[in-house]
Amino acid sequence: MTSTLSPAQMGEAARQILIGNDRGGYTVPNGRVYPFQWNWDSALVALGFATFDLDRAWREVETLFKAQWPDGFLPHIVFWQDDAGYFPGPSVWASGRTPPTSGITQPPVAASVVRRLWDEHEQAGYRERLAVLFPKLLAWHRWFHQYRDPQKKGVVVAMHPWETGRDNSAEWDGPASAVDVSRVGEYQRRDTSHLDQSMRPTKLDYDRYLAIVQFGRASGWNHQTITDSNPFRVADVGMTMILLRANRDLLALAKVLGDAAAEREIQSWLDLGPVAGDYLWDESLQAYGSRDIITGKPCGALTSGSFLNFYGDVRHAERDRIMLAHAERISGKVGHMVPSLDPDDPRFEPMRYWRGPVWAVVNFLIGSGFAMAGHDDWAARVRRDTRELIATTGFHEAYNPLTAAPSGGDDFSWTAAIWLAWAGR
Ligand code: DGY
Repeated sequence: MTSTLSPAQMGEAARQILIGNDRGGYTVPNGRVYPFQWNWDSALVALGFATFDLDRAWREVETLFKAQWPDGFLPHIVFWQDDAGYFPGPSVWASGRTPPTSGITQPPVAASVVRRLWDEHEQAGYRERLAVLFPKLLAWHRWFHQYRDPQKKGVVVAMHPWETGRDNSAEWDGPASAVDVSRVGEYQRRDTSHLDQSMRPTKLDYDRYLAIVQFGRASGWNHQTITDSNPFRVADVGMTMILLRANRDLLALAKVLGDAAAEREIQSWLDLGPVAGDYLWDESLQAYGSRDIITGKPCGALTSGSFLNFYGDVRHAERDRIMLAHAERISGKVGHMVPSLDPDDPRFEPMRYWRGPVWAVVNFLIGSGFAMAGHDDWAARVRRDTRELIATTGFHEAYNPLTAAPSGGDDFSWTAAIWLAWAGR
């Protein structure tokens, strides 16, 4: 696909991707590489559906929450139907749930999506659905604060690189190097039969991914055991900022529903925002970043997750200024913002998954954060770059920030959704 398509044709192409990836109440990110329902993909896809089928948008989120566990946990994959084209499938996770699910979660964007569905679209007829979804969202957020913030600093501790959604970010290299991979055994990856290996995580990354899954499975997916002794425990700047934003959005929904007790509970989580900001500010990097809570060491990488400070509304005049200076420096090095890793980092690889490529969804979050903070020039730049990447290259998983070449799968649901809801508007 090239920029020869008109805006109307682009919109139609985006809608066709969502319709083609719709499996009846839920949408697969891409039919070959990711043939199940993924948590944050699905929530963001709802924003795309909302531009032409609002009922279907609400259903996407409702279907996801059908897989919620009794303790509030919301899994990162729901295996509504098995598919041999993906590894690790339901038998590897062995969560013992119906429907089968994975045992880890993903960035909590759902409350922010639901708030947008409520605020920006027709409300008549949706209040009852909001009232049903709200306690489920609240339970998930409560689960994060109970199990994923053991130090009570208002951060989200990721228990697996896959939980962060930014699977092979350089941030995880240090913490994951402590994971014992000696008993992982033989396994057959499926991602590299669909995509070029050079765009995917390495074999060592996968060994670590599986060793952590094996730990969780051996614990019976006991969230307290995982909180206390998982081999990988990292306060993720991305998930933390996303949860902060989601808590603000959940608070707004609590007000819509007049739920004063929920308002107080959510406000107590939001009050921790400045503590989280201090904990995640990396003095030696001079940027926000993730931190290994086992060693206490900052991860030492400036990623697209670092720029979510504005989205999380963690405001600090001096740090804000420094983050904008980073944006300025990086924009002088890449054709398209926002690369998933600082191009000045020696680990930068412009085609390898979360070690360089630009992701439309992360741009949407970063761009929304810039806009909320009043940095309209940066908001416009990030949106324009996203529009150009999609218009010239197609609806791909990610893009090379230097050349705009596609990286990862094509016909990607959340890229199409972001076009419809934001970049192409
Ligand atoms: C994958 O398999 O690459 C996914 O990102 C895991 O969630």
